[in-house]
Amino acid sequence: MTASPHPLRAYRGSLLHFLGDPGDGDAATDVQFIDDGLLVVERGLVKAADSAHALLPTLPAGTPVVDYRGRLLMPGFIDTHIHYPQTDMIAAYAAQLLDWLDDHAFPAERRFADAAHAAEAASFFLDELMRNGTTTALVFGTVHAASVDAFFAQAETRNLRMIAGKVLMDRNCPEYLRDTPNGGARDSAALIDKWDGRGRLHYAITPRFAVTSSEAQLAAAGRLAATHPGVFIHSHLAENQNEVKWVRELFPRARSYLDVYESFGLLRERAVYAHCLHLDDEDRGRMAHSGAAAAVCATSNLFLGSGLFDFATARQAGMRTGLGTDVGGGTSFSMLRTMAETYKVAQMRGHRLTPWRVFYLATLGGAKALGLDDRIGSFAPGREADFVVLRMDSTPLIARRMKTARTPAEKLFALMMLGDDREIGATYILGERVWNTLPSAAQSI
Ligand code: GUN
Ligand code: ZN
Repeated sequence: MTASPHPLRAYRGSLLHFLGDPGDGDAATDVQFIDDGLLVVERGLVKAADSAHALLPTLPAGTPVVDYRGRLLMPGFIDTHIHYPQTDMIAAYAAQLLDWLDDHAFPAERRFADAAHAAEAASFFLDELMRNGTTTALVFGTVHAASVDAFFAQAETRNLRMIAGKVLMDRNCPEYLRDTPNGGARDSAALIDKWDGRGRLHYAITPRFAVTSSEAQLAAAGRLAATHPGVFIHSHLAENQNEVKWVRELFPRARSYLDVYESFGLLRERAVYAHCLHLDDEDRGRMAHSGAAAAVCATSNLFLGSGLFDFATARQAGMRTGLGTDVGGGTSFSMLRTMAETYKVAQMRGHRLTPWRVFYLATLGGAKALGLDDRIGSFAPGREADFVVLRMDSTPLIARRMKTARTPAEKLFALMMLGDDREIGATYILGERVWNTLPSAAQSI
């Protein structure tokens, strides 16, 4: 990060952020929407977010103010489940999950044995996140430790708050992608020592899913989790009916798929499970009680024909929930696209998500799912100034639609249903602009 010439900088535009879960009703709680707002950033952290009218007089003379009036400033998007090594095979035609893994995902991941390929792919991937306004993500590597070294090295250079881990898999996958219980645990422990807590980086113990890990490997992952309680756990759970059936055959004594992970000590806070489609009430209760989180991956679940996440029962159980793109099973890096599909998935289940709740899930809800809400996900004072500027006019249709939307909720709703990467006017990391499509208009007061 380059040192800023002035420690204080302010950004004027509409502001949206959440102080907590806005609830399911149209009358949202814990939401702050300020039509003419000011975001004040000091040395990479949020100093204040309030109306421009209230804050402008408090700024010292000479404070630069970037004029984003007519645009929407909000905390950066948080993608709670994505695979960086699958960038190159996104949108691959296949039957459902298990064939798709064999035909497309595994061959693409093989290339990450090559550190130069991993570095180039990680760089492209992070550019793509910035272009889409995603400032934090929970990321799968491949089985190769070098894939995670490459990813973290790129993320560190860019000062990003990122979470990633080496995939553990020692069975039911091609020989060329297989590790061993001891080797996988040793590599993971070395990567934790090297990267976890360095800069803004966090490590995630990453067993791919119960199908591809032996009991010995899951036990080793559980031991690692027990000795590193602050580290994340990241896996897939109950995505596809054939996968669930296979897990039942592989672990005949387990009460359920979730029970496999729980019995190996892999269910706790900072454990994030992608999909969570085929769960029962007991599973949902256990997830909620443990503090583990579900990463809902709507575009992936539709693309692979996996199923429809049940927001109503997850909510009743009190499960922590975030949104994930699940690229390359997911079909878009854009969290706006992902939010639109999430809304439709809930509709198909007879559950209506308010626009407030969907924006919450993509920001503070994701931060809470990751246990990082004391650092990211809102404009509360002291939070890291990772934020995005939504254009509100990125296509002729959006520009036209914004004119007929009467309330902030109507605008947000239309924006998320119609928006994509073109909506991202600018992305800021710790108060530094890393992506921009807007003319700069900074002035001093
Ligand atoms: N289950 C196990 N591996 C994967 C993967 O790479 N993508 C998805 N969507 N599900 C998985
Ligand atoms: Zn996935």
